[in-house]
Amino acid sequence: MEKDIARVIIREEQIRNKLHELSKTLIHDYQGKEWTIIAILNGSLVFLADLIRLIPFPIRLDTIDAATYGEYTFPKGETKVVHQFKIDIEDKHVLVIDDIIDTGSTLKRVLDDIKGYHPKTLKSCVLLNRLSRRRHHIHPEYCCFDIGDDFVVGYGLDYNNKYRNLPFIGVLKDECYRR
Ligand code: IMP
Ligand code: MG
Repeated sequence: MEKDIARVIIREEQIRNKLHELSKTLIHDYQGKEWTIIAILNGSLVFLADLIRLIPFPIRLDTIDAATYGEYTFPKGETKVVHQFKIDIEDKHVLVIDDIIDTGSTLKRVLDDIKGYHPKTLKSCVLLNRLSRRRHHIHPEYCCFDIGDDFVVGYGLDYNNKYRNLPFIGVLKDECYRR
């Protein structure tokens, strides 16, 4: 897998350090509250797993599925969101977690849907923020890294359902796309 990577843009150690910082902020903001995390699958899996293990108090957790890019590196129109919450989120402090905000349509769809369940507060948290393709005015309250135009893989992010298990974030070699 690593031979397919043209360059690493965020190293494991940088991710680890940033998650420590983020966890301190979240502990400060959510301690003593009924905190509910809703993670958008599959991309946020690795980020979620590492982040929640830095939190020393109970968290309520649920997940939702959103459509992936498949074999493309560009959004193909409308975001498909499949959700059926297994836990009650009404009147709870809800934090939505995703791997990356790109155009913003996934997060917008999810946040709009969750609003209908009347959470007490609703915020979002992403590992990566790509501003250059934003189509919706959405600004996650918690962002770890700003990135440029390049499509990235690793640490949960995939291309055609591969590379999610790389421990860093990198850019693929050109010949790896659409192969
Ligand atoms: P948005 O709806 O355009 O903001 O895209 C968000 C979703 O697209 C994310 O949850 C990712 O799953 C996927 N995505 C966007 N950019 C990338 C990328 O560079 N690599 C892998 N997945 C991406
Ligand atoms: Mg995703």
